[in-house]
Amino acid sequence: MPERTPYLAANWKMHKTVAEAEEFVDALLPKIGATGNDVVICPPFLALGEVVSRTRGSAVRVAAQNMHEAESGAFTGEVSAAMLLDLGADAVILGHSERRQYFGETDESLARKVPVALAAGLEPILCIGESEEARDAGQTEGVLERQLQADLAEVDPVEISRVVVAYEPIWAIGTGRTATPEQAQEAVAFARDVLRERGAEAERVRILYGGSVKPANAAELMAQPDIDGALVGGASLDPNDFAAIVEAA
Ligand code: PGA
Repeated sequence: MPERTPYLAANWKMHKTVAEAEEFVDALLPKIGATGNDVVICPPFLALGEVVSRTRGSAVRVAAQNMHEAESGAFTGEVSAAMLLDLGADAVILGHSERRQYFGETDESLARKVPVALAAGLEPILCIGESEEARDAGQTEGVLERQLQADLAEVDPVEISRVVVAYEPIWAIGTGRTATPEQAQEAVAFARDVLRERGAEAERVRILYGGSVKPANAAELMAQPDIDGALVGGASLDPNDFAAIVEAA
C-alpha cells in the first residue's frame, strides 16, 4: 500500500489580521521544524501573501479558503486561481460546509472549481460531510457519495489522487462535539471506497478528518487506518495547539 504522508491543515476561517498571521507563523515554525508531515496554513485572502513569504524555505505550504472557477470577469468579491498562484498559494479549500451553508456553494460550481484548481496546479482540499439530520436519518453514506460523485464529476480518475478530501461532519464543526474515531474512520473508509469505484487510485488519496480536532483527540483520530490527517479550525488559531496536532500525526 502506498505511504500517505500525514496532512495537517489550519483553516483560520475569518480570523487573524496580517500582523496576527505573522505572529502565528513566527511562533509555529520553530515548533514544527523537523516535521516530515505536510503542513498547510489556510489564512484569509488578505494574509495569504504575507504567510507565503514568511513560510518560504520552511515545510509549511499555504492554501486559500475559496476560489472562483472563472479566469476573470465581472464577479465582484471573488478571486481566481491565477490570482492565488500569483501570490504563491499551493492549495485551495473548496466546498467547505460554511461556504455551502452560508454562501450558496453548490455541487455544480464545485464540479467546475475542482478541475480549474487542478489545471492551475493548485491542490484542491475538497470538503464533504453530512448534517446532523442526515446522520440521524441514516443518510451519511448517501450524502458523502453524492457529494464526491458530483464534485469530482469532471475530474479524470488519474487526477483524483492529486485531490485532498476532507471529511467534516457538519455537526462536529465548531461544536466541540468530535466524531468518535470509529465514526470518522467508517465515513473516511467509505469515501475511499467511493473514490475507488470512481476509478481513482484510492490508496494514494489523502483523506482528512475535520470537526473539533484538538491536541487531546488528534492522535486517536489520526491513528485510524484511513484517516490521513486533519483539517483544523478553532484549534489551529493557536500555534501551540496546532503544533501539538502536527506532532500527534
Ligand atoms: P473546527 O473547524 O475544528 O473549529 O471544528 C473545522 C473546519 O471547519 O474546518
